Amino acid sequence: METMIGKTRLVLLRGDITRQSVDAIVNAANSTLLGGGGVDGAIHRAGGPKILEECKQIVARQRGCVTGDAVITGGGNLSAKFVIHAVGPFWSGGDRGEDGLLASAYRSSLRLAAAHRATSIAFPSISTGAYRFPVERAAGVALRAVRAFLRAESHTLLEVRFVLFGEADLAAYETALAALSPA
Ligand code: APR
Repeated sequence: METMIGKTRLVLLRGDITRQSVDAIVNAANSTLLGGGGVDGAIHRAGGPKILEECKQIVARQRGCVTGDAVITGGGNLSAKFVIHAVGPFWSGGDRGEDGLLASAYRSSLRLAAAHRATSIAFPSISTGAYRFPVERAAGVALRAVRAFLRAESHTLLEVRFVLFGEADLAAYETALAALSPA
């Protein structure tokens, strides 16, 4: 499923984010930036040790990455030029600012992509795995955040992909995209 937001194509697809041929792949990281399971594990496995080395240099400079923020490294062995490590919120019931922090993780990632003049970016469904954020709610937050950025901020993005691992996740994002108000 896809749609246009201005000059940018927004695409929803099912697949493995480590196999996407885009300028920037977004990692669902944690604040330590030192790897983990899920997407984090897959990207570090496929991208090789160089990515972790760069993450360690960032940690040495700025300690870690706060929730809602993101950092950027090279793509290592991946076909992508960059990996953007975004830290989404852990779901704590929905009244601890989780929606805002999730939107911020997407916005921070897009700002880094724009600063590095990326023309394409692939997101996983941030926070909806180990961090237990309900995927239906996360999908709406993510799509609204991406649309708001594309409309309001300067960028060079011609394609934004959401790469969903499971059929149910893809369906949740397709439902959310279809429900996105035209406003
Ligand atoms: N490609 C695309 N999506 C994937 C892949 C993959 N290779 N592997 C997993 N996913 C999906 C999961 O199915 C889920 O829908 O990515 C989504 C995010 O799940 P997690 O990777 O668990 O990320 P998150 O929920 O944000 O939790 C982050 O988990 O791996 C650790 O270090 C990470 O502590 C951090 C936490």
